[in-house]
Amino acid sequence: MNPIESATPGHLLAGKTAIVTGSTHGLGSDIARGLAASGARVTVLGLDEGAGRSVAESIGESALFVRTDVTDDAQIGRAISATLDCFGQLDFLVNNACSYADSGLASGRDQWLRLLNVNLVSAAIFAQKAAPHLPRGGVIVNLGSTGGKFGAAGRALYPASKAALLQLTRNLAVELAPDGIRVVSVSPAWTWSPSLAQLADGSIERADRVGAGLHPLGRVGRGEEVAQAVAFLCSTAASWITGVDIPVDGGFSILGPDQGVSPREWFNRST
Ligand SMILES: NC(=O)c1ccc[n+]([C@@H]2O[C@H](COP(=O)([O-])OP(=O)(O)OC[C@H]3O[C@@H](n4cnc5c(N)ncnc54)[C@H](O)[C@@H]3O)[C@@H](O)[C@H]2O)c1
Repeated sequence: MNPIESATPGHLLAGKTAIVTGSTHGLGSDIARGLAASGARVTVLGLDEGAGRSVAESIGESALFVRTDVTDDAQIGRAISATLDCFGQLDFLVNNACSYADSGLASGRDQWLRLLNVNLVSAAIFAQKAAPHLPRGGVIVNLGSTGGKFGAAGRALYPASKAALLQLTRNLAVELAPDGIRVVSVSPAWTWSPSLAQLADGSIERADRVGAGLHPLGRVGRGEEVAQAVAFLCSTAASWITGVDIPVDGGFSILGPDQGVSPREWFNRST
C-alpha cells in the first residue's frame, strides 16, 4: 500500500528550473520527478548515461539530462551552461550525489579524500558555480542524513561528510542571504532506494518490517516523501527558512538510545 496520500501540488514551482545532482537513480531521480511534478523544469545529472536519459524521458519535455561527474569542475560548469541554454534560468540546486564507500577506521587517505570529494567538496563547488546565476528567491538544498548525526561502528567517512554538509549549509546560508538565496538541508532516515533495496533483498515489505522499530511512524521512508520536502523548501511557502536542517525521517531522530521505550519496559525485557 502506498503510504503517501497527497501529491505535491502541480503549481508549487511553476516557471522555475532546478538542477539535481546524482539523479540517475535512487532518491535523486525521485527528487527530480517530484520537482517536475510540482511544475519545475529539471536538469538530471549523473554518471550513467542510459539511466539518466530514461529518467529525463520519463519526466518529458521539462527535463534535460547532462552527463556530469560532480568531482570535475569543468563538467559542473558545462551542466550549468546547458541548463541556462535550455531553460533560460536556474532557480534551485539540489546537491544529492553521494558515495557510500566507507570502511570506517580502516579507510585510507585516498578513500577519505575520494568520498569527501563527492559528498562534500563537490556540493561546495557546485554551489559556488551556481550561486552567481541564482536569482533572489533561489534555493540550494543539500542532502544530509540521519547517518551524519549519530555514532555508528564501521562507518566514518559518510557520516563525517554528511555532518560537514550541514555545517556548510549554515555557512552558505549566511553568505548568500544578502543575495536573497536560501540554503537548507534535508536529512532522511532509511528511505527506499537501491542501497536499501540491496540490504532488504529487494523487498519493501521487509525494509518496512526491519525499519519499523527505528522509525516511530513504523516503516521506512519513500523517495517521494523526501521529494515533497525538497519541493516545499524550494517554494515560496518556505521563504523564511534558511540555514537549517529539516529531518525527513519518520521520527527516527527524536528517539534516544532507549528507542522510545521506558526503563520499566527495558527491565522487563532483560529478565
Ligand atoms: N537512501 C537512504 O536511505 C538515504 C538516507 C539518508 C540520506 N540519503 C541521501 O540521499 C542522497 C541519495 O541517496 P541514495 O540512497 O539515493 O544514493 P544512490 O547511491 O542510489 O544515489 C547517489 C547517486 O549519486 C551518483 N554519484 C556518485 N558519484 C557521483 C559523481 N562523481 N558525479 C555524479 N554523480 C555521482 C550515483 O551515481 C548515484 O546515482 C544521498 O545524498 C544520501 O546521502 C539517503
